[in-house]
Amino acid sequence: MRGILLAGGTGSRLWPVTKAISKQLVPVFDKPMIFYPLSTLISIGVREILIITTPEDREAFRRLLGDGTQWGLRLEYAVQLRPEGIAQAFLIGEEFLDGRNSALILGDNLFHGTDFGRWSRPGTEVVGGHIFAWPVPNPSAYGVVEFDATGRVLSIEEKPAQPRSRYAVPGLYFYDAEVVKIARGLQPSARGELEITAVNAHYLRERMLRATVLDRGSVWLDTGTVADMARAGEYVRVVEERQGCKIGCVEEAAWRAGLIGDAQLRELARPLLNSGYGEYLLRLLD
Ligand code: DAU
Repeated sequence: MRGILLAGGTGSRLWPVTKAISKQLVPVFDKPMIFYPLSTLISIGVREILIITTPEDREAFRRLLGDGTQWGLRLEYAVQLRPEGIAQAFLIGEEFLDGRNSALILGDNLFHGTDFGRWSRPGTEVVGGHIFAWPVPNPSAYGVVEFDATGRVLSIEEKPAQPRSRYAVPGLYFYDAEVVKIARGLQPSARGELEITAVNAHYLRERMLRATVLDRGSVWLDTGTVADMARAGEYVRVVEERQGCKIGCVEEAAWRAGLIGDAQLRELARPLLNSGYGEYLLRLLD
């Protein structure tokens, strides 16, 4: 399975904060936002990842993340010229995916406490599309999925004025190789975007869409608005300070996944000692 991390967009809901810097580079407490979805992909077992950015921000991302070899990953970069929709990621990423299954994660989504690896272990076959669901107080702000009593998906709609359920669809999606063809067949929505919800609706029509409600105890944080950002930062701070464990720590995720060894973790810690981040990495080795 290959991964796509979508980190473009205008970030206009956070202006002026994101006028001169990509939203996904803005800090969420002690690390750039993109570290969170990147470490989620690592924990899922994805090693080859395409990072899609705006043309202006590509070099900044490259400066931050490099080619990924320091973390045992292969990172590639591609640009999205205009924010023409989440599903466009599959048109941009077609060559990179090269007919393989994919995991798409949105660069501004933060997950904590869910073992997504369960759904993507080697040998687990992805047939169709697999999405997740999470109850929220304001479903109209998201893609919304409706279930019947047996847990079968009945409908999926993008930002409905009258939501049919409380279940929002978070920004992590697993698809089989058909997704590229499906994305190619989409028409732009009323807001001018190739909607990821339209991809999921297509799989649903084909009876090929599975949705899993995230376990109780898992947390999904969106960073769409300034208030969401502040909440996410506060959440990370409180959990990290009380638990003594970092969330979204790419180096730790790579080390725990066995992509890098102790010596490399020590090497990565060295330039990060000034901020305390490096000390945390060294403590992991004790
Ligand atoms: O966060 C989950 C929600 O994400 C889902 O429930 C919705 O179904 C889905 O449409 C999306 O909703 P938003 O309208 O809130 O997405 P937004 O435009 O904020 O973009 C999400 C991320 O994807 C953000 O980091 C920017 C990036 N993006 C978005 C678009 C439309 C791109 O890189 N390029 C794009 O063209």
